[in-house]
Amino acid sequence: MTDSASHILQMQTSTNHWLQPEKQATQPAEAEELRQVLRFHEHRYYVLNEPLVADAEYDQLYKKLEAAEKLHPDWVTPASPTQRVGSGLNASFATVTHLVPMLSLENSYDAEDLNDWDRKARELTGLSEIEYCIEPKFDGASISVIYEHGLLTRSATRGDGVQGDDITTNSKQIRNIPLSAGFQNFGIDTIEIRGEVLMSKQSFAAYNAGLTEEGLPPLANPRNAAAGSLRLKDPSEVQKRKLEAFLYHVSYTTSTASGAGIPGTHSGMLQMLWDCGFRSPVQEMKVVKGIAAVAEHCAWFESQRDALPYEIDGLVIKVNDLALQEKMGMTTHHPRWAIAYKFKARQATTVLRDVEFQVGRTGAVTPVAKLQPVPIGGVTVSSISIHNEEYIREKQLMIGDTVLIERAGDVIPQIVKSQPELRNGTERAILFPTTCPVCEAGLYKEEGEAVWRCINVECPAQAVERIIHFVSKDAMDIRSFGEQQVRRFYEMGLLNDIPGLYQLDFEKIGTLEGFGKKSISNLEASLLQSKQQPLHRIIYGLGIRHVGETMAKTLARAVTHVFDFKNKTVEELMQLEDIGPKVANSIVNFFANEKNIEMLQQLESLGLNLQQAEQSIAAGGSFSGKTFLFTGTLTRMKRQAAEAKVEEQGGQILGGVSSKLNYLVVGEDAGSKLEKAKKIASIVILSEEEFLKLLTHD
Ligand code: IVH
Repeated sequence: MTDSASHILQMQTSTNHWLQPEKQATQPAEAEELRQVLRFHEHRYYVLNEPLVADAEYDQLYKKLEAAEKLHPDWVTPASPTQRVGSGLNASFATVTHLVPMLSLENSYDAEDLNDWDRKARELTGLSEIEYCIEPKFDGASISVIYEHGLLTRSATRGDGVQGDDITTNSKQIRNIPLSAGFQNFGIDTIEIRGEVLMSKQSFAAYNAGLTEEGLPPLANPRNAAAGSLRLKDPSEVQKRKLEAFLYHVSYTTSTASGAGIPGTHSGMLQMLWDCGFRSPVQEMKVVKGIAAVAEHCAWFESQRDALPYEIDGLVIKVNDLALQEKMGMTTHHPRWAIAYKFKARQATTVLRDVEFQVGRTGAVTPVAKLQPVPIGGVTVSSISIHNEEYIREKQLMIGDTVLIERAGDVIPQIVKSQPELRNGTERAILFPTTCPVCEAGLYKEEGEAVWRCINVECPAQAVERIIHFVSKDAMDIRSFGEQQVRRFYEMGLLNDIPGLYQLDFEKIGTLEGFGKKSISNLEASLLQSKQQPLHRIIYGLGIRHVGETMAKTLARAVTHVFDFKNKTVEELMQLEDIGPKVANSIVNFFANEKNIEMLQQLESLGLNLQQAEQSIAAGGSFSGKTFLFTGTLTRMKRQAAEAKVEEQGGQILGGVSSKLNYLVVGEDAGSKLEKAKKIASIVILSEEEFLKLLTHD
């Protein structure tokens, strides 16, 4: 959906209106208006990836709607954003029959296969050249969704292609599947749509990091993660997986008398889905004439594979004209009008030569498989984490085994399986140590956990990992300090702990090889700069178990000084957003440890900022958190006055056009800034008139 500037403006105005603390929905029509606003922001966030409000603002609006609907249950509509959250568990998944069987696709692997397929297609249609639509072959779990009279009524897994499982409740946890969609505008009454559910590489990595931290075995790849998630009993667990859905095929429609009519091409269908609020692959698709152009595009797209935020295992080429598709028909297995072009597999076999045990920042002992180096998809893999004892048992790994490994995009390589049939009797079992491989203290395993930990707080391995985490990019971002340097300084006794970073002996460092004047002054400067880092980065940098970046931000907002945590109870912490008992306990334990308090006191006396920065003065203003830029000549007021007005209402003036900009206000004779802003879809371009309207609205 390409929102028009006037629609965005209308929604923004309405948003500001609903963000006023005293504003409540007191009429059914007002609740509906609030729903529209929420749907608008969900679409900006989950489909367009260009949110226009802060998460906290969205939550505020959502809570308002929830409160109104609680007070007036008869106002609730089935497609209300509040209706995504399923109550209770899925007892079982009923078997349902697809309106049209879900066929699979024929595969091709190179230009020659494509040429053969195109020749047959031309023979079948009698055409000399065919128009094709090329789109990604998403590597997830396929689903079908049905909308009746504009409402999502059923979602199902593929199953055996004819029948699948009813997963409607779980599918509502996927935020880019709209609960309602304006198919009426196209004259459609009932529609069945096919698509793929997947987890982005980023969500997958974050989810796996959480599992590992909890001592649970990680999921093998985003595809398995998505497929498993759809059949989870607990819908709230599904929500945590942050699934996304791409919808790419309309398999069935019934029409009404009115409406614009159903598009005649596949690309037109994808555009229709997009216009109805779905994440269909319109941004990724390409329509070309003739197979030579298809092959060229396939080769180019394969080279871009790693840059995509989600996994694809190839492309799908479809005849674009739907009447032609109909004419070509299908075999019992697959349509004749489409073919999959599969990318080269990123799997390889190699030998597991040895296993080393590494001690992490939290004392977790991780076995790492040392492999005979093998190239996969452009990188040489020589070691892979094998997580924990349970994982080793599950995969039946032995030293000396031949193993199949897979690298899914920029996802860390994994061992798919060992090949016990290739053993010759020289293989050895992997023995887990009973003492810490670094400090030799005994290892412990908490009940219900799979991870063995060294709990010696003075263990050198943990100390060095803690420093590495503290200086890292997402924590204190101490630029000139890398992992190698921390290890080197630590081994030389120049650095023992986090406060030691700010007490380094630069004279001594200056005598080391590789440290000239320039690198020392860079190091000093970045350490100095890091003293000004905001509190949430310090909290994250402390490496408290279960506290990630987002959690650190929530925590920082809840205090004025880091020592306020000393007096917080588990119950109080659990009042904060997304903080459960596990995190709360971990925080309480951290601040109950005198050694940690001493370290923080030391950091404060070394000049680090342990206070939460003052909240912006106009934080409650209607432009709070929004950024503005003026260009051209304003006719109704002076630019300085307009800028002051923005700031008065909590907004911020930016120096130039970038994706950080929310509004560009355009006066007369605007130049390059306007041109640049037009290229960034998330920027709302306002005339002076529109700006004044926004300003005076309350
Ligand atoms: S079209 C009749 N388009 O690949 C139409 N399928 O190997 C059939 N898939 O079962 C599907 N991305 O789960 C189509 N852009 C795409 C796809 C896609 C992934 C999956 C789908 C299908 C499997 C076939």
